Amino acid sequence: MSLFNVYPLFDITPVKGDDIYVYDQNGTQYLDLYGGHAVISIGHSHPKYVQNVSEQVSTLGFYSNSIQNPLQTQLAEEIIEQSGCKDYQLFLCNSGAEANENALKLASFHTGRKKVMSFTNSFHGRTSAAVAATDNPKIVAPINAQQKVEFVEFGDLEAAEKVLSKEDVCAVIVEVIQGIGGLDEASTEFYQGLSKLCKHYETLFIADEIQCGFGRTGDFFAFQKHEITPDIISMAKGMGNGFPVGGILIHPNIKASFGLLGTTFGGNHLACAASLAVLEVLKEDGLLNHTKEMSAYFQEAASAIPQIKAVKGRGLMLGLEFDFPITELRKNLIFKHHIFTGSAKNPNLLRILPPLTIQKEHVDMFIEALKKEIV
Ligand SMILES: Cc1ncc(COP(=O)(O)O)c(C=O)c1O
Repeated sequence: MSLFNVYPLFDITPVKGDDIYVYDQNGTQYLDLYGGHAVISIGHSHPKYVQNVSEQVSTLGFYSNSIQNPLQTQLAEEIIEQSGCKDYQLFLCNSGAEANENALKLASFHTGRKKVMSFTNSFHGRTSAAVAATDNPKIVAPINAQQKVEFVEFGDLEAAEKVLSKEDVCAVIVEVIQGIGGLDEASTEFYQGLSKLCKHYETLFIADEIQCGFGRTGDFFAFQKHEITPDIISMAKGMGNGFPVGGILIHPNIKASFGLLGTTFGGNHLACAASLAVLEVLKEDGLLNHTKEMSAYFQEAASAIPQIKAVKGRGLMLGLEFDFPITELRKNLIFKHHIFTGSAKNPNLLRILPPLTIQKEHVDMFIEALKKEIV
C-alpha cells in the first residue's frame, strides 16, 4: 500500500511546532516563513489554541448541523465584530475550495444564472466550480470543464464590462491579492469599478479572501483597503490556524432557505473552538497592527537587497521578486539555513507567509541567510 503520489515532497518530517518554529524528528529547528501555505496565523501550538481545542474535544468534539450549536453563533458574532462586516450571515464549511464552491453555487441560486467570470492567474481551489474558475488548465478535469467560465485579464475593467453586459453571469470571483498567481493586486479604481458593474448587471461579487483574509494583510479582509462591499466573502486558511475550517460571509440581501446549502462536518464544535481561539488571540495580542509593523520592517529590509527587483503583496503576504529563478535559493534556505519559504507561478518569486506572530529577530535571521546565499 502506498500514498497516491501527487505531492512533490521535501525530505523533512516536522513532528512539533512552537510559534514560528517547527522541529523535525531529530530536533532540528526550522523557521517557518511559509505557515504551511498561509494557514498558521497565531503561531504553531499557541497555548490558547491548544487549550480551546483540547477542552472542546474532551467535552464535545462533534455533532451534526441538526441541533443548536451556540459556538457557531459566537463565531459569527466575533467575525462580524472584528471585520466590521455588519449584518453579514455566516455559513461554515471545511476548506477553501468548499467555501468558494458554496459561494458560486449560492450566486447561481440567487441570480438564476449559470456563468462565472474569473481572472487570469487566479486560483480558487480544486472542487468542481472552484477549479473551473481557476486559471490553470492542468488541474481542470474534463468533468469540471463543462462549467461556464469566462476569464478576463486581471485589472481590465473594460474587458470585465464586455462579459458582464451580456447579463448572464451569476458571479465575479476575485482574489483581492492573488496568492499562488504571484501576489498581484489591482488598483482601488478597478475593484470599485468592478463592484459598480456587478451591481449594475445584477451579478454577485465574490471576494476570495481564503489566503489574504483573516488578518493576513493587517486589515481583517484585504478588500477593505478598497472600500467595497462584496456580496459574498470566502475564508479558510488562517481561520483555523491548521484546523480545517472554512466559511462564507453572505450579504443580508441574500436570503437563506432550508436545505439551500449544507454539510456534515462544516461548523462542528471543534472547528468553531479552533477559530474562536484564533479570533481571541488576533484581538488580545493586537496581531493586525503587529502584522502591519512587521510588514513594514520586512519590506524595508528586503528592498535594500539589490537582487530583489520588487517586493509584492501586503502585510505578511509578501512576494520577493528576484532577477533569477528561486528554486535553488529556496532549497538552500531550507536545507542549509533551516528556513521554510514558498514558491509561486512566477519562477522568480519567493513567497513569505509567516505566522502573524513573527518578530523582528526572525526577519533579521531570514535576511542574513538570504544575503549569505545571494552574494
Ligand atoms: C485564494 C485561494 N482560494 C482557494 C484556495 C483553496 O483552498 P483549499 O486548499 O483549502 O481548498 C486557496 C488555497 O491555496 C487559495 O489560496
